[in-house]
Amino acid sequence: MRNFFYGVIVTILVLAIGGAGLALLGFIPTNANTAPPKMERHIAMSALDASMERHAPRVNNPVPPTDENLIEGIKIYTMNCAQCHGGLDRKPAELGRSFYPPAPDLMLNPPDDPEWHVFYAIRTGVRYTGMPAWEKNLSESDLWKVTAFLTRVEKLPPAVQDYWKKASGINPPTEAQEEHKHK
Ligand code: HEC
Repeated sequence: MRNFFYGVIVTILVLAIGGAGLALLGFIPTNANTAPPKMERHIAMSALDASMERHAPRVNNPVPPTDENLIEGIKIYTMNCAQCHGGLDRKPAELGRSFYPPAPDLMLNPPDDPEWHVFYAIRTGVRYTGMPAWEKNLSESDLWKVTAFLTRVEKLPPAVQDYWKKASGINPPTEAQEEHKHK
């Protein structure tokens, strides 16, 4: 039993040291100009979701989703996030596609997570990716405004849709359209 136990420990150590050795000898590629393999992406996204589920506090958005706050959210998004996550014109952001992992296009595929989840992702960022932690650059209420917008991209009230149209020249996406597109 004791030998078995040592065997397990030694195996783990060999694997860990071997892994570190391979990394230090330069066997792990560092280029960002390829798409991550499907499996890697799947595991990484599931691990990220699980970690957010575990760490993010379940808080309600203290900022009410009024027309004014949602329009503020759009402005904050356009100034700070669109270059990586895609703008109101819904054209792909080349910069965002140049990261490894790539930045998700939030205008074409808006998040369907609860507000506390999206807020946590924005406030604390995502390690080892291009996603910064925004808590030092945006105020708490701005973080909540952009969260309010991102969790309602396809169900904005009419006045906010008008603002979107004026700012970008195109109609904002609605749930009905998206249903149609996916069929
Ligand atoms: C410099 C590029 C860059 C900027 C600027 C940026 N992001 Fe990101 N963001 C990323 C990348 C890359 C990821 C993907 C991380 C991953 O795949 O795990 C990401 C992921 C996200 C996610 C998804 C997290 C999840 O749970 O899957 C959200 C939401 C998000 N960003 C919101 C924002 C908001 C809001 C802003 C502006 C305040 C912003 N980002 C600015 C690069 C950026």
